[in-house]
Amino acid sequence: MQFENSLLFAKQLDASDPLKKFRDEFIIPAVDGKEQIYFLGNSLGLQPKTAEPAIKEILQQWAGYGVEGFFKGTDPWLKYHDQLVKPLSAIVGALPQEVVVMNQLSVNLHLMLVSFYQPSGKRNKIICEAKAFPSDQNVLETQVKTHGLDPDKVIIEVSPRQGEHTIRKEDILQAIELNKDETALVLFSGINYYTGQLFDMAGITKEAQKAGARVGFDLAHAAGNVSLCLHDWNVDFACWCTYKYLNSGPGAVGGVFIHERHHADTTIPRFAGWWGYDAATRFKMEKGFKPDAGAQGWQLSTPSFLLYATHKAALGIAERAGWDRIQQKSRLLNDYLWFRLQEVNDRMKERSIEFITPQNADERGCQVSMLMLRRGRELFNALADAGIMVDWREPDVIRLAPVPLYNGFEEVWRFSDTLGRIIERVKNEK
Ligand SMILES: Cc1ncc(COP(=O)(O)O)c(C=O)c1O
Repeated sequence: MQFENSLLFAKQLDASDPLKKFRDEFIIPAVDGKEQIYFLGNSLGLQPKTAEPAIKEILQQWAGYGVEGFFKGTDPWLKYHDQLVKPLSAIVGALPQEVVVMNQLSVNLHLMLVSFYQPSGKRNKIICEAKAFPSDQNVLETQVKTHGLDPDKVIIEVSPRQGEHTIRKEDILQAIELNKDETALVLFSGINYYTGQLFDMAGITKEAQKAGARVGFDLAHAAGNVSLCLHDWNVDFACWCTYKYLNSGPGAVGGVFIHERHHADTTIPRFAGWWGYDAATRFKMEKGFKPDAGAQGWQLSTPSFLLYATHKAALGIAERAGWDRIQQKSRLLNDYLWFRLQEVNDRMKERSIEFITPQNADERGCQVSMLMLRRGRELFNALADAGIMVDWREPDVIRLAPVPLYNGFEEVWRFSDTLGRIIERVKNEK
C-alpha cells in the first residue's frame, strides 16, 4: 500500500480496519484519565476485559462444587485444556495433539531439553544465538553441566558479524555445517528479544535435521506475533510464554509444541508427573508411568485453572478476530510504523536512530528496536512524559511493538510525530 504522511490518512486506515472494535475488549492503561499509547505488547500484552469474569468463573465453580469442579458445572476443569489447544494450535501451526499448555517458559525449556538434548559421545554440541535471552542461556548452561559437560566447549553461539546487529542466515547454516557431526541440538529463538530479528525457522530446522541434530525454538516473541507452521516445518519442539503477544497476563501459563513423530517414541527420556499419565487410567493410581497420548503426556502437575482462565479469555478474542486477519493487520500496521519512522529519521540532519531490527518484512514481526545514537535515555523519558509507553533496554535501545488487537494507525502516527518533535527539542537543549 502507498502510505501518506498525514494524520488524516492514519485515521482513514483506522476507519477501514476490520479489527478496530477489538481494542474495546482490552483495558488500556490510563494516567489521569488519559489513555496511554501502549506499545509494549512485546513485553506484557494488555488485559482482556474477559479475564476477570473468566477467573471469577473458576472461583465460582470451586465455591459451588469444591473438587467436583473437575467434573461438574458449565466448564468442568478436566475438559478445560481442550479449549485452549484448539485456538493455540492454529496460531502456532500445529496439530492439536502436538500442543500442551503447562508450567512457564523456562521450566518448559528445561523439560524439553531433558527429552531432546541427549548428548552422546562427540555429538554433544548445542548451537544457539549469541545473546539469547538470559534465561535460555541459563537453561543451556545448567543442562550441559547436568550431563557433566563443559558449557564453554559444548555451546556454540552464532554472533552477528563485526559492525552488524543481526545474525546472518548463512552464518547459522555454516555453523551447523561446520559442526554437523557433533551437534546434538540447535536451539534458537523464533524472534530475538533484543533486536526483533525473525529467524528462518524452516531453513534452520531443515539444515539442522540434515546434520542429524534435533531442533527447538523459544517462541516467546514469536507466538501470537508472526505466522508459524511448526508441524510442517518439522520442528522437534518449541516453547513459548503467553503473556506477551498472547495477552494472558503476568506469569501466565506457558505453551509447548512437540512434533507428533516423537509422541510414541519410548526411547525419548522425559521427566514425568501424574498429570502426564494416561488420562483414561490416571485415577487408578497405579505404579509405573504410562504417558498420555500426544504432547499432553509431558505434563507433570495439576494445572492452575486460574491461569488457564486468563489464557482462555485472551485466546477467545484472538479466535473471534481470526488469526489471518490479525496477521494481515499486523503487517500493515508495522509497515506503516516503518514508513513513519523512516520519515522521522530521514528528516533529521543528524541521524538519531539506527534501526537494529531488520527492515525486510520477512525478518521481523511487530517489534522495532531502535538504537538511539544520542541522548537516548532522555528521549525515552520524554516519550513516557508524553504518554507513550515503550521499553528501554540498556545501554541505548528503545523497543516498541504496536500490536494488531489493540493498537491502531493513529497511535502510530501520534507516536512517530511525538518522537520527531522530541528529538528536535532534545537536540536543541544544551
Ligand atoms: C525469549 C525469552 N525466553 C525466555 C523468557 C523467560 O520466560 P519465563 O520467565 O516465563 O520463564 C523470556 C521472558 O521474557 C523471553 O523473552
